Amino acid sequence: MKVFQHVTDLGDLRTALAEAQEVKRDRYQWQHLGRNKTALLIFFNNSLRTRLSTQKAAMNLGMNVIVLDVNQGAWKLETERGVIMDSDKSEHLLEAIPVMGSYCDIIGVRSFARFESREDDYEEKILNQFIQYSGRPVFFMESATVHPLQAFADLITITENSQTLPPFSLSGKEGGKSIKVVMTWAPHPRALPQAVPNSFAEWMQTAAQEGLGIDFVITHPEGYELDPQFVKGARVEYDQMKAFEGADFVYAKNWSCPGVTRPEDYGKVLHDYHTMMDWCVSARQMAVTNDAAFMHCLPVRRNMIVTDDVIESPRSLVIPEAANREISAQVVLKRMLETLIA
Ligand code: CP
Repeated sequence: MKVFQHVTDLGDLRTALAEAQEVKRDRYQWQHLGRNKTALLIFFNNSLRTRLSTQKAAMNLGMNVIVLDVNQGAWKLETERGVIMDSDKSEHLLEAIPVMGSYCDIIGVRSFARFESREDDYEEKILNQFIQYSGRPVFFMESATVHPLQAFADLITITENSQTLPPFSLSGKEGGKSIKVVMTWAPHPRALPQAVPNSFAEWMQTAAQEGLGIDFVITHPEGYELDPQFVKGARVEYDQMKAFEGADFVYAKNWSCPGVTRPEDYGKVLHDYHTMMDWCVSARQMAVTNDAAFMHCLPVRRNMIVTDDVIESPRSLVIPEAANREISAQVVLKRMLETLIA
């Protein structure tokens, strides 16, 4: 694997899920793969889980790890080509990227949507420059449009915690009836990117289409339609209570307007959040589910996205979900190391 951006980069999902369980059984059995190999993790934005879980995954594989917070201690980087560099940005990304590539074997990059231009964000202008100029395998640690390490961890968590989908095993034992997974928009005071919901939709609907026994539904207020390239034909239900009926898993997340129907609204919060608080996931909605498990990628704003009682309930999976970030990162790094060594 040379790039990890989309669910398709992982190939067959059953094989990837079985590999995740194999990693979980003994995460230190591939230390030889990372010997004398260096992972460089580059953060243009803040992180707690991605930073720690990816470092841990790399160390499990015997790798050396360098972490760079671009905004703390590095030169300010210019990202646009053709500009006269007379601002406070001292270095261009086009020199910085190959230099960074020369110090490592694999690069992970976090660079969020900037909301300056939908076209730039959805073309993945920053990450694509890393793919093009670093000379190294590149994995996305949340970009302008996707967060695949999170979505993979979410899928692992769902298969592990389903009554009917046993964790996929290398023995091939699987089956059972479908489970209903609902992703719901929830209110938030600030404009947030669409990377997490895009990837969650992409991965869940692909899992559904690959026959993994998932019935996937998205619910959000009108105007927040996600890009069809990620929705992949999944059912959208604008009535949140109706969407929640019979759900086995509820995945909450806020996102700003993706600008699908009105490009001029891209990145905007469409309503004052005070008027949208009935979308906050509470016992009221959870009561119509099939005793659903609650999921969120974290960090989460309590009593905006989800009430205290729901996130603290025994049905909340937010901690095991975060713990599975180490596993998803390790499968991805392991595959990249295997490609390097082959
Ligand atoms: N879920 C997630 O990616 O968390 P961080 O932003 O803390 O890395």
